[in-house]
Amino acid sequence: MSPVKVVICGAAGGIGQPLSLLLKQSDLIAHLALLGVVTASGIAADLSHINTKCKVTGHGKDQIDEALQGAHTVVIPAGVPRKPGMTRDDLFKLNAGIVRDLAEGIAKNCPKAFVLVISNPVNSTVPIVCQVLKSHGVFNPSKVFGISTLDVVRASSFVSEVNPAIDPSTRVTVVGGHSGVTIVPLLSQLPNNFVDSLSRDQLDALTHRIQYGGDEVVKAKKGAGSATLSMAYAGARFTLGLLQATVAGKTGVVESAYVHLDADKENTAAFKAKTGLDYFALDVEFGREGVSRILKLPKVSRYEQALLDAAIPELKTNIAKGAAFITDSVAHWPEARL
Ligand SMILES: NC(=O)c1ccc[n+]([C@@H]2O[C@H](COP(=O)([O-])OP(=O)(O)OC[C@H]3O[C@@H](n4cnc5c(N)ncnc54)[C@H](O)[C@@H]3O)[C@@H](O)[C@H]2O)c1
Repeated sequence: MSPVKVVICGAAGGIGQPLSLLLKQSDLIAHLALLGVVTASGIAADLSHINTKCKVTGHGKDQIDEALQGAHTVVIPAGVPRKPGMTRDDLFKLNAGIVRDLAEGIAKNCPKAFVLVISNPVNSTVPIVCQVLKSHGVFNPSKVFGISTLDVVRASSFVSEVNPAIDPSTRVTVVGGHSGVTIVPLLSQLPNNFVDSLSRDQLDALTHRIQYGGDEVVKAKKGAGSATLSMAYAGARFTLGLLQATVAGKTGVVESAYVHLDADKENTAAFKAKTGLDYFALDVEFGREGVSRILKLPKVSRYEQALLDAAIPELKTNIAKGAAFITDSVAHWPEARL
């Protein structure tokens, strides 16, 4: 096992800083390259004093090539977070271009890297990354992930608050996408008939809290941003899980991720034919090459089917918006690709 280079794009931000701190502690990372807009050298200098083996370097936007070269994994929490009253989709105009430019840098400098997208709206930014990589002929669906882990982390916390007998580490399956109605918690999967112990009002309230948990943080921070610390925890859990599989060869590591369904055509063909979706968040088992298996959508309750029915059209709109952002710009300005 040889430790690898991991790049954090947007490392000076609210998520980027604590995420970098958490990753600095991993033996699986030899080099943490921190990319900021002007520079992330202050954050890098600070972290470099922590006595772990991982080397830390800081880079500005004009040093994107050197930051990305040789990267095994690139994590993207770059962009603008929500303010009160904004949906994740409202961020599209601001973040789509940032994510596109970073994906261009990845295609050029580290086309084989695993790409982990945190920047919102994830439902659209992941298709943006995939389209850019496709346009360069380097797209591998097994290597691009939208991090929806925070929805799972929140679901586990909220379920445990409703029923303290359920340990907060209990995994809740959350599928769909990463915004509002596209977040579909499958509470019927929880053991001991948890879902049957809830009244309809309680089930509605819990489901709504999982779907809109991010709003609680946006409101509480009063305009100073969205979830950063819980997101850094979720992002680190996802990144380290992926490294455990891809670098250390650990098997059986499963996380929910918003992925291109071609990453496992066999297990997703029927779902894709039924829904017409190319992207969806499902439980994913990691392997050496990224996605080793996408777990099939389990049997859902009638209540959950109604949630899925509401999620699918919204997801289709979000996906089309992301893909069109790249295909339209290529069609209108072909010289930009030269
Ligand atoms: N996936 C999730 O569950 C989840 C959860 C919370 C937040 N988010 C999203 O993560 C993103 C970051 O949130 P935050 O709170 O850290 O925001 P932030 O504003 O605190 O930090 C973002 C950082 O990105 C930097 N940046 C912008 N463009 C860049 C570029 N081209 N290259 C490198 N760095 C660049 C900014 O300068 C800033 O330092 C937002 O889009 C937010 O909506 C996602």
